[in-house]
Amino acid sequence: MTKRRSWAEPWKIKVVEPLKMTTRAEREAAIREAGYNTFLLRSADCYIDLLTDSGTSAMSDHQWAGMMLGDEAYAGSRNFYALEQAVRDHYGYEHLIPTHQGRGAEHILSQLLIKPGDYVPGNMYFTTTRLHQELAGGTFRDVILAEAHDPASEHPFKGDVDLAKLEALVAEVGAERIPYITIGVTVNMAGGQPVSMANLHEVSAYCRTQGIRVILDATRAVENAYFIQQREPGYRDQPVAQILRQLCDLSDGATMSGKKDSLVNIGGWLAVRDPQLAEQARNLVVVYEGLHTYGGMAGRDMEAMARGIVESVQDDHIRARIGQVQYLGYKLIDAGIAVVRPIGGHAVFLDATAILPHLPREQFPAQALAAALYVESGIRAMERGAVSAGRDPKTGESRYPRLELVRLTIPRRVYTQAHMDVTAESVMEIFDQRERVRGLGFVYEPEYLRFFQARFATVGGDGIFA
Ligand code: F0G
Repeated sequence: MTKRRSWAEPWKIKVVEPLKMTTRAEREAAIREAGYNTFLLRSADCYIDLLTDSGTSAMSDHQWAGMMLGDEAYAGSRNFYALEQAVRDHYGYEHLIPTHQGRGAEHILSQLLIKPGDYVPGNMYFTTTRLHQELAGGTFRDVILAEAHDPASEHPFKGDVDLAKLEALVAEVGAERIPYITIGVTVNMAGGQPVSMANLHEVSAYCRTQGIRVILDATRAVENAYFIQQREPGYRDQPVAQILRQLCDLSDGATMSGKKDSLVNIGGWLAVRDPQLAEQARNLVVVYEGLHTYGGMAGRDMEAMARGIVESVQDDHIRARIGQVQYLGYKLIDAGIAVVRPIGGHAVFLDATAILPHLPREQFPAQALAAALYVESGIRAMERGAVSAGRDPKTGESRYPRLELVRLTIPRRVYTQAHMDVTAESVMEIFDQRERVRGLGFVYEPEYLRFFQARFATVGGDGIFA
């Protein structure tokens, strides 16, 4: 029998940043001023900030040392070549086009490959990815397994593509109208759920026969590789770095938000194998992002990302990262709180429709739950439900995805186990008062990515608690 080992972090803390505690009255005023949208709160008014794992990581001493080696040349910075090498070594793509962050890469790729009237399948939507596809004239089609839409399903690879759905789309519109498929590894909106290597093999083989490119959204691919190591037969003895390469080998290219897996505060990239597509991307990136050897990043940012990539694929790192997320997740499961199962890679997702059954979908239970959690505890979370899903561009109707979630997103290397304990206790506190939480209605709704800047008012009285 092997002894059970803790997920304790493979680092110690060198620098600390004080957290501010606020009073309940201050938080009530702050959330009202923010229109009950946690994106509009000031960070200084948040105690434990679980809004996102994007750009919120703590960098290592090695990364900070690299910041001093920034070569801020306009063209041909040595840090670009270091980043290009790190991407070639660990993701295996020959051609790297840096961008300011992930959506910059999505924009370039969508503009290059999508023609009006095209369809782009994907294993569940992501907000910015789908919008860029739509703005390029494409229509997104969800081809994820049905289990992904069921928060209680324990399927180990809920990110998998349902090949029958993909084949049906090809039969319906023709492969020539499908320039590529986007595979999120892991799938953010499904709860940070992974794709299996076996499924990616199948999808990749099928797409090759149809002439459809396979593009990974590699934003959290290292987390996906860790789940493959832990859950998929035959991978237990392989290092995560090796599994990551195998995942990427099954694709034609990737878009990347370096702000997640790669342990940096800003940056992203598009990477492809096709030299012609790479040349077109290099030409377009100068229009929107910057020269093709910096793409919107400072030299120092590229160096930090090159170093962050190397750190991110270490087994010790990723085991501790996901270990911490699971620690919080199982605490909530043990307390009887409805969360998306299994626990995902970057966050624990509360099932707001299960927790607040008295609120109709039109009153945005997840948005309300996030606001209530903030007022109760100062913890900032994010809505991932109908507000995030936005409106259908053709019908103008609000989309109501089956999943109506609040995401407790864990920044990498930032918070301690005690912070996770406080977070769990705060969620339990809300759970005890759940009948008192009021619904929300829009008072301002922006046209694009409405969740970022929308404002709400409470329904049936003032304040998020009745
Ligand atoms: N793809 C995925 C799966 C993402 O989670 C994100 C960002 C992006 C693309 C876009 O990258 O922000 O660098 O432009 N997700 C953040 C989040 C915003 O909080 O989940 P970006």
